[in-house]
Amino acid sequence: MSRASISKRLPITGYLDKISGRPTESLAVKISAEEGEEYQTDVIRIVSADPNPDGPGLIYIKKDFGLAKSYTASRQEIDLGSYGVIASNPCFNSKIMLFGVLAQPMLLRNTTSVIASVFDSDGFGWELGVCKSKITFDYLGHDRVEHCIEQPFQFELSSWYHIWAGYDTVSGRLLIGGLSVATGEIQSKELNLKLEPILSSSDLVFAARKKNELSSAHFNGRLEDPALYNCLTELGFAPPLPAVASAGQISAWWDFSIGIDTQAIVDRGPRGLGGKLVNIPYRGMRGANWSGSVMNWCDAPREYAAIHFHEDDLYDCGWNTDFNLVIPPETPSGVYGLRLRQGDARDIIPFYVLPPKDGKKNKVCYLASTFTYQAYANHSRGNCDDVMRERMKDWGATPFNPDDYTVYGGSTYNFHPDGTGVSISSRLRPSLTIRPAFLTFTDTAGSGLRHFSADTHLLTWLEKRGIGFDVITDEDLDNEGLPLISGYNTLLTGSHPEYHTSDMLDSLQSYRDNGGKLVYLGGNGFYWKITRLPTLPGVIEVRRAEGGIRAWATAPGESYHQLDGEYGGLWRRNGRAPQRLVGVGFSSQGLFESSYYRRLPSSYDPSVSWIFDGVNEENLGDYGLSGGGAAGFELDRADFVLGTPSGTKILARSENHSDSFIPVPEELLSHINTVTGEKPADLVRAEIVYCELPNGGAIFSVGSICFCGSLNHNMGENGVSKMLENVIRRFSERSK
Ligand SMILES: [Fe+2]
Repeated sequence: MSRASISKRLPITGYLDKISGRPTESLAVKISAEEGEEYQTDVIRIVSADPNPDGPGLIYIKKDFGLAKSYTASRQEIDLGSYGVIASNPCFNSKIMLFGVLAQPMLLRNTTSVIASVFDSDGFGWELGVCKSKITFDYLGHDRVEHCIEQPFQFELSSWYHIWAGYDTVSGRLLIGGLSVATGEIQSKELNLKLEPILSSSDLVFAARKKNELSSAHFNGRLEDPALYNCLTELGFAPPLPAVASAGQISAWWDFSIGIDTQAIVDRGPRGLGGKLVNIPYRGMRGANWSGSVMNWCDAPREYAAIHFHEDDLYDCGWNTDFNLVIPPETPSGVYGLRLRQGDARDIIPFYVLPPKDGKKNKVCYLASTFTYQAYANHSRGNCDDVMRERMKDWGATPFNPDDYTVYGGSTYNFHPDGTGVSISSRLRPSLTIRPAFLTFTDTAGSGLRHFSADTHLLTWLEKRGIGFDVITDEDLDNEGLPLISGYNTLLTGSHPEYHTSDMLDSLQSYRDNGGKLVYLGGNGFYWKITRLPTLPGVIEVRRAEGGIRAWATAPGESYHQLDGEYGGLWRRNGRAPQRLVGVGFSSQGLFESSYYRRLPSSYDPSVSWIFDGVNEENLGDYGLSGGGAAGFELDRADFVLGTPSGTKILARSENHSDSFIPVPEELLSHINTVTGEKPADLVRAEIVYCELPNGGAIFSVGSICFCGSLNHNMGENGVSKMLENVIRRFSERSK
């Protein structure tokens, strides 16, 4: 992320405390406007979020949610960057104080990155920092005379150092030093001068400076075993590490190996000065003593006693609530948006309305892939060039791209500024990508939509075909489980349901095995394992372990989630390949461009020929708004070894993909050998499958991320549309 744009913000934007609700429930609306004045708002039902003039166009239907004509906005702050806080204690500013810590810098600049600081709002206190070529310690006592001591020091990024600094107001000493853990070499320095004590009492902050509400000067890297000592060491000697120090030397020892699955900091010292973490820095991280003999932090927490802080971590913006959006009693289930307008500025915050818990429901349920949207939230791809901007303007697409706005935090497809992959994503912040009319690619053959906007291709089609449906989200399914979906005949996914918790997979599997009809309308689905915690609402964690098409890779020994200690990575590597649930799984990826499927002989079998009633295409879906065809970008195929249920019929297979398509890494053994024994090029295929299961359940899967983009071609009069309508109508007619 570019530092230059770190503070650039949307004119008006916001987020909700929850992304879905039922009639009569309310959602807390949190808005910030740069100008901080009156704004107008209303609610729309979102039918189509594709601004392409060659498609259905944007279709929003205004709804009365009883909102006031206008509200007054304020500018709300964003405290970007993670840090730790220990509530004030006199020992932080006692007459003699020494602070020591193990540190692994991952990014250093010419300016100071603060490792620990104790400041009141008037600036009295102290601060230990590092920059490219030195360690610094600043001290400001009640005489307002600032003292600074610097130790020139050559850091190597990703190496561990023991760093310390302190003062003695009785004998008049300032001390600073650093030790390379790799070489044992010590460099230290002291100044003898008159020091007035620090009289105020302030919080101790790790990995940042905090003189007011906002943190700054964040440290990017890992800290381990910060400790306070009650006396200074001699020049040329490092303080003992707290694990081996004598009890009388230590005032506090924050052992980050305790409570790794929490946001709490535990003090093993005599005062028990516990604290908390802000913005969810990464835990379960290899520390200075990681031996390489353990891979799971649960098995040897002291080898994982480090916390990795980043200057762009962000959990909850914590904005004040502007108003509560109450969902009117008779509101039909659907996808909605809260529209904001202030002068020329616009934004739309999507939300979902579920049907009443005990009310009448449709037979068809659409499961919105909101965890996948969240994993991609604010994905900066670096592709928002002049051509895309021109198209955004011409089409009236949302003008805000994450390439230009980094203050809202990144996605799990981005890297932190220090080069580590983002593994945590929160929805308690504005998300520029989860917006109607957001363009992801400059698609020369179509609209270039993904995720929220792309999935409205399906919503539009359902509306136009007169198929009634209810809407739920990933988060609802994870929270409520099987009872949320068990009453529906048919459950539809969107174009890319990629991220799931184990509970969600359990629910979908049970639904399917107990008579539910599961219709998977995407590609690269059910791929990554994620974890959530009830104590951190709105957060998902992904560890990109082992293989797979990956935006980044976990380091060895860091594949276990910090939130629950479970092994992360691909569901396939966790024994639950997507083929087991939906018959197909990820096989190949290429550029955002599409081809078609060719019907296979099995599709003419009388037992399944009903699927193709009225379908007059041998080559299915050679058209569409996503890459120009139904089969493209990310392709899934059946694999009976990986779990495709026996009896599954492969009805159609894609072909004629461009050279940009490659097999996914988990299928490759070498440059010529694959897991299946097929030629690598032969794994470049999407397959449409159908399977009837015991107990009346069924699977229909299309195996392509671009499939839904074809549904509305020729006003919905096309083979792909006819095929899916046959399936959904048949599924929904049958009793469950
Ligand atoms: Fe994906």
